[in-house]
Amino acid sequence: MALHSILPPACAIILSLAWLIVAKKEVFLMKIFQSLYSIRDNQNCEISGPCWKWPNGHTIDKFLDGRIKSKEWRVYGPVYRIWSCNIPEIVITTPEDVRAFHSDSDLHNKSASSNGGWFFHQLLGDCMGLVNGIRWRRLRSEFNHAFSYRQALQMSSSIGTYAHEYVKTMIPDMQAAESTIHVSDAFMKFPFFCTADALYGPMTEDEKSKLWSIGQQSLALMRYVLLGGIYRFKVSQVFCGRAAKELNTFQKEWSAFNNNMYQSRRSWSPTPLIVLAWKPVTEGRLPESEVMQTLSEMLFANLDVSSHVITWLVTLLADNEDKQQKLRDEIRDKGIINDMLLSEYCNKKNTFLSACYLESLRLRPFTVFTIPESSPSEKALGGFQIPANTSIVVDTLEINVNNPFWGRDSHSFNPERFNNIKQADLRYNLFAFGFGPRKCLGQYFAEAMVKNFVVHLLDQYEVHIPLSESRDGEYKSHRDTWVPISNVKLVLSKLK
Ligand code: HEM
Ligand SMILES: *[C@@H]1O[C@H](CO)[C@@H](O)[C@H](O)[C@H]1NC(C)=O
Ligand SMILES: *[C@@H]1O[C@H](CO)[C@@H](O)[C@H](O)[C@H]1NC(C)=O
Repeated sequence: MALHSILPPACAIILSLAWLIVAKKEVFLMKIFQSLYSIRDNQNCEISGPCWKWPNGHTIDKFLDGRIKSKEWRVYGPVYRIWSCNIPEIVITTPEDVRAFHSDSDLHNKSASSNGGWFFHQLLGDCMGLVNGIRWRRLRSEFNHAFSYRQALQMSSSIGTYAHEYVKTMIPDMQAAESTIHVSDAFMKFPFFCTADALYGPMTEDEKSKLWSIGQQSLALMRYVLLGGIYRFKVSQVFCGRAAKELNTFQKEWSAFNNNMYQSRRSWSPTPLIVLAWKPVTEGRLPESEVMQTLSEMLFANLDVSSHVITWLVTLLADNEDKQQKLRDEIRDKGIINDMLLSEYCNKKNTFLSACYLESLRLRPFTVFTIPESSPSEKALGGFQIPANTSIVVDTLEINVNNPFWGRDSHSFNPERFNNIKQADLRYNLFAFGFGPRKCLGQYFAEAMVKNFVVHLLDQYEVHIPLSESRDGEYKSHRDTWVPISNVKLVLSKLK
């Protein structure tokens, strides 16, 4: 046969194949990934889950649209699979499965760089929250003492003093009887500089503004992580000059900042944490990347987390004025504000303040899908045999809200529910600071921060949601942070 008679049909076939691959690339890639990581139940049915999405799987869905996706993906049953690029992640949704998965949690590993790819690895891949084994134990032991329960209790009174000042000067026009504020803009610097104080000790205004600007650089870099695609691979260093340059500038400035802080504080007494943490770096006992990224984690990654917790607690109290008044009565009844009793009050577990704090953590977990981790053993979860070393994430809304444990009013803000619940029953029914031995390093410190802030805010102001923020049963949240921080305006009315 002559070449000219084969060529057109061959071209047509190649072109249609190419078209098929481009148009159906999602199905095509999903089939490939599925065949690599097949998981079947005892009826030999493949585990279900949402269709793979170009180009990053479900990374964006997981972080930015968590609340919507959690609802949407419920149709796949109590155990299903999503994708972080080409890496499968198994979502579990029931307290029973959380308990079964965590039965050996002391042996679990966090997934490398949280399955976030190369660019994310440069920012946080070596931080305490994501490294494993001996590296994790070494890092945690450097920081543990500074955030222990006792240490947090000791820091509480200076946190209270700062909260009092912060709330007093937060509003531009301090004489106004009423002011409208944007919650996250107005509150964000409080947890940031509280945490900075715990790390560096008292700072000059110059040091503070430098730290804030490095933080802004760090947060801006998160946009490349969320873009994914080429940024998941090292080649982006070659092809994406601007991102590589921004990353490099950030890393240099961050290293120089910490080194300067270390040098300027070496002779201080009491010794600030930065001196204790940076010394092993100068002596070559700890890699600089691990300490630098752990500081990044505590200050920059956590800025969104702590702000999230504060903004939601205040937003929920604004929206439930009877609870707000009840809490204010508790605060004022005890005359706590004018007394040394404030840190004791913030530390107590049987107060209405504590119930409000837990209730807001329950309704607004900072992430709907937890940080992926794996067990070294095969696990039976919801009828599937999940192979060892598979990344597992927990849908925290299914645990904290849609779980029958919370009863029929599980969607409403009802702090009194905690009066009748035993602490031990919360273990697998409430996600707040993590389930296993990798629990949040800063949990006691964060609690002191959030409670002190809210006590002073409610003592000085009444908080309302303005009519213009009518919200059809849902609140607005930010889409430019990796955590869905409340994006709501509030009216503050000055109290006598
Ligand atoms: C109320 C605010 C906060 C919440 C809700 C929160 C929540 C969490 C959660 C859920 C984890 C992961 C636990 C796991 O995967 O098992 C975690 C880890 C961590 N958090 Fe927090 N956190 C908060 C504030 C803070 C603060 C202020 C700091 C700074 C000291 C901090 C430092 C850390 C660190 C270093 C880790 C990694 C711990 C490890 O892997 O050993 N957190 N946090
Ligand atoms: C967990 O991580 C450590 C440190 O990276 C590694 O040595 C160990 O093999 C990992 N375990 C599993 C089960 O992947
Ligand atoms: C899980 O990872 C560990 C450490 O890398 C390895 O020794 C083990 O064989 C892995 N198990 C499976 C089933 O792949």
